[in-house]
Amino acid sequence: MDQHSAPFCPLRAIQISRIMRPDDANIAGSVHGGTILKMIEEAGFIISTRHCNSQGEEHSMAALARVERTDFLSPMCIGEVAHVSAEITYTAKHSVEVQVQVIAENILTGDKRITNRASLWYVPLSIRNVDKVLEVPPIEYTDTEQEENGRKRYEAQKLERLATKQKNGDVILPMISLDRHTKEPHTVNFSQSSLIHLVGPSDCTLHGFVHGGVTMKLMDEVAGIVAARHCKTNVVTASVDAINFHRKIQKGFVITVSGRMTFTSNKSMEIEVFVDADPIVEDTRERFRAVSAYFTYVSLDEKGKPLSIPELKTETEDEKKRFEEGKMRYLQTKAKRQSEKLALTQQ
Ligand code: COA
Repeated sequence: MDQHSAPFCPLRAIQISRIMRPDDANIAGSVHGGTILKMIEEAGFIISTRHCNSQGEEHSMAALARVERTDFLSPMCIGEVAHVSAEITYTAKHSVEVQVQVIAENILTGDKRITNRASLWYVPLSIRNVDKVLEVPPIEYTDTEQEENGRKRYEAQKLERLATKQKNGDVILPMISLDRHTKEPHTVNFSQSSLIHLVGPSDCTLHGFVHGGVTMKLMDEVAGIVAARHCKTNVVTASVDAINFHRKIQKGFVITVSGRMTFTSNKSMEIEVFVDADPIVEDTRERFRAVSAYFTYVSLDEKGKPLSIPELKTETEDEKKRFEEGKMRYLQTKAKRQSEKLALTQQ
């Protein structure tokens, strides 16, 4: 959480706790990254919707617009209690930043550790007219430095968004290979996978639009399938790059969530995931790309030690280009992580 955050205020902060059950597990036996992303989004949705309705006449629901890059710092185990705390840390005119921290508690020993930190941006949409963006009530900051830091984060994400908006690209066909056995292992074609999901009421807000957390969970699931198909071992989510949610997905739409491997390093793999929405019963509306993101996965042995990853075999020019781009992202985030580590040791 922001080190300059104000004292606990029920309008600005919330904590949700839940025990992790066997149905929250991934095949490696720890809690599914998608489940954690969903819990993070739920806490962010509650606090931002509550805040946006704290003033003014017109009621709104907060729609998830963006999640900043998120690292999974430590696995959460089944039987542990997840404490998810969310706090509003910055308000702009029509958008609100929520910072979330997830702590795992072993209730037998009392040990606690941080498993995730995330930063999310929500935009209030009118209940009466979902296309109407409402204004966000401003928060009070403890000092000018806190406000200034928030403004810097706001400006930075706006700039980054402009650069990525163009990248969303064409809608792609589902990647379902019935003839996988004929493909060469460790190629992009071999592991690429899709999930097809009909958006039902339990996936949606009162508006009838999909919760961002539901989408992220499906995205993580596909990325996990691609990773497991590639290396045939237990895999876990290591991080998710920033995700922008440009388009709403409505109840009754069919979504196709597709993943393809773009890059492998010695001990990590990057998977690009796309979500395409198909308004099946509305003939007048076209399929569209709702969101895309990069997930990084690692493969773990029984003791939780990272294993080597078979190198991705690129076959086409596009695959080679994506591999090089993935390598750049990998080297940049690695350098950033190292400089953050260094800064911490020098404090
Ligand atoms: N990240 C952060 N903030 C964003 C954003 C993004 N990706 N896209 C828009 N915004 C903010 C803008 O900065 C602006 O806030 P500000 O005035 O405080 O700067 C506010 O949204 C409204 O911008 P505007 O240009 O009027 O709206 P828009 O046409 O870009 O629509 C959304 C913004 C979020 C309503 C629209 O992109 C949307 O409906 N997205 C899908 C939301 C959703 O369904 N989420 C769950 C997906 S599964």
